[in-house]
Amino acid sequence: MWVYEKKLQYPVRVSKCDPRMAKFLIEQYGGADGELAAALRYLNQRYTIPDKVIGLLNDIGTEEFAHLEMIAAMVFKLTKDATVEELEAAGLGAHYANHDNALYYENAAGVPWTASYIQAKGDPIADLYEDIAAEEKARATYQWLIDMTDDVDLQDSLKFLREREIIHSIRFREAVEIIKDDRATKKIF
Ligand SMILES: [Fe+2]
Repeated sequence: MWVYEKKLQYPVRVSKCDPRMAKFLIEQYGGADGELAAALRYLNQRYTIPDKVIGLLNDIGTEEFAHLEMIAAMVFKLTKDATVEELEAAGLGAHYANHDNALYYENAAGVPWTASYIQAKGDPIADLYEDIAAEEKARATYQWLIDMTDDVDLQDSLKFLREREIIHSIRFREAVEIIKDDRATKKIF
């Protein structure tokens, strides 16, 4: 079970209304390497991963939901004062026609989220390597997003998320080594 804490993991501030950046940030909401995909991937893999690393998938999967919440807060703040004309000019006209200002699990190009973005192979090494790749791709996406804005407040929150992806990647690499060591240990019954 989960206990909800009514606060963001890290503060989200934006300096201006910027629907253009909101459209790009949606990539990390419902895109292939986004936070929803990460959370669902890790929490689902817990059931077939060795006991020693269940806690890691649990912790990181849960944290990804906190990141999803931060992205939602960013998109909301960047678009809440935008006019319909400004949304259209930012490429969000089709989104507005379907969702008004509501968020939706889609990527920056408007393609809906799909479970085919994630895998559960049942093999711990295969799954953990996928997880490492997912973290590295998310880190790269955050870097591209940081490069696309001059809003220092927004950059600050994005840099926090980028750093968390680096930490997650390191933790998953450690998990691979734990499992490899375990497999190499001769078991005498
Ligand atoms: Fe992550």
